[in-house]
Amino acid sequence: MEFEKVLTHRVSTRKYNDKMPDDAAINKIIDAALLAPIVRMHKLHLSVVTDKAAMEKAEDAAEKFFDSPEMPVKMRRPFLYGAPVWIILAGKKYGEAENVNVNAKLMNDNLFWNVGSIIENMELQATALGLASCGINTAVVAMKDRPDVRQAVGIPDGYDALASVIIGYSDTAYPERTVKPELIPVSYVK
Ligand SMILES: Cc1cc2nc3c(=O)[nH]c(=O)nc-3n(C[C@H](O)[C@H](O)[C@H](O)COP(=O)(O)O)c2cc1C
Repeated sequence: MEFEKVLTHRVSTRKYNDKMPDDAAINKIIDAALLAPIVRMHKLHLSVVTDKAAMEKAEDAAEKFFDSPEMPVKMRRPFLYGAPVWIILAGKKYGEAENVNVNAKLMNDNLFWNVGSIIENMELQATALGLASCGINTAVVAMKDRPDVRQAVGIPDGYDALASVIIGYSDTAYPERTVKPELIPVSYVK
């Protein structure tokens, strides 16, 4: 698919069929993550989850998390929309006491930029392969205080889940997206 088409065909998809993307497709998506522009000072980890039991555990955790009294909006499953592949990006944040030659806060602050680059590259590569995708934060925030869930989905000890993306095939047809200038104001300094 040509690049401009990839941009206009990527869409957050919330309905998947059971067809599992093959290993070649998953490997290409992982390669796309590894080709993303990132600061190479962070400890990162990618977990490719296809185990239904692990996904179910994360769904349970998310449902409990969003059902707590402090949550203004109650959210119910499915959080992963039945997608066959869930890729979770995890990272190890810098502690203040760590001997890094830059401020730990600055390092942790620029982590979000890396995360965006990696997730976006994976979504675009998925689109180019004819696969549907959606960034998923709900199931990520829900595992913050759940080491059992983090372990079930393959996140290394001491790492936090930072972001995730679901990938699979969808039977839903979406219209090609158009640019909406009102989304972000742009100014030009010439
Ligand atoms: C940081 C981030 C977190 C997101 N988390 C979720 C999520 O947990 N569940 C969900 O259904 N969509 C999630 N999305 C998808 C957004 O809702 C979606 O990108 C937005 O509606 C714009 O639609 P589009 O991606 O089709 O352009 C997330 C997107 C981003 C960038």
